[in-house]
Amino acid sequence: MAKLMIIYYSRTGNTKEMAEEVTKGARVVEGVEVVCKEVDEATSEDLLSSAGIILGSPTYFRQMAAELKSFIDKTIDVYGQLKGRVGGVFSSSGSPEDGEKCLISLSEVLDCHGVAVLGKVLAVVTPGEREREECRKLGEMVARRILG
Ligand SMILES: Cc1cc2nc3c(=O)[nH]c(=O)nc-3n(C[C@H](O)[C@H](O)[C@H](O)COP(=O)(O)O)c2cc1C
Repeated sequence: MAKLMIIYYSRTGNTKEMAEEVTKGARVVEGVEVVCKEVDEATSEDLLSSAGIILGSPTYFRQMAAELKSFIDKTIDVYGQLKGRVGGVFSSSGSPEDGEKCLISLSEVLDCHGVAVLGKVLAVVTPGEREREECRKLGEMVARRILG
């Protein structure tokens, strides 16, 4: 079964809440295995074995958190092997302007790996109902696209 991998880092729980909603949305779609991992459990093999990849991070100094970047840097071992996959990104930030910059940095990572970014979700600090719904929609959209 095709797999959708959601990988995130969260220190104070806001990005984690978003990851849970993305997962919930994706699980609505039958025929896709949805796996959600904290970044310290993730491996390059997780990316290689997935048709969809969604990354989430808090905004730290207008970028993704070092914990996620450290994982990303290790994925150089599968560079060139992820082309054609689909994905998305999400972040929780203190301000919308800085959060947008983090979303761009996350998108650049997927783009660099040849993964098409279908959607981005930003929550300013704690996700409200609107952002939670956007997260669910992101998960569902990417899962549906995996099925074609
Ligand atoms: C080290 C650090 C750096 C941060 N840098 C920014 C920043 O540049 N811009 C911003 O809007 N918020 C910044 N924040 C706020 C976080 O993005 C925000 O609190 C977020 O909700 C944390 O997500 P989490 O609960 O998933 O850990 C920073 C927080 C920390 C701890």
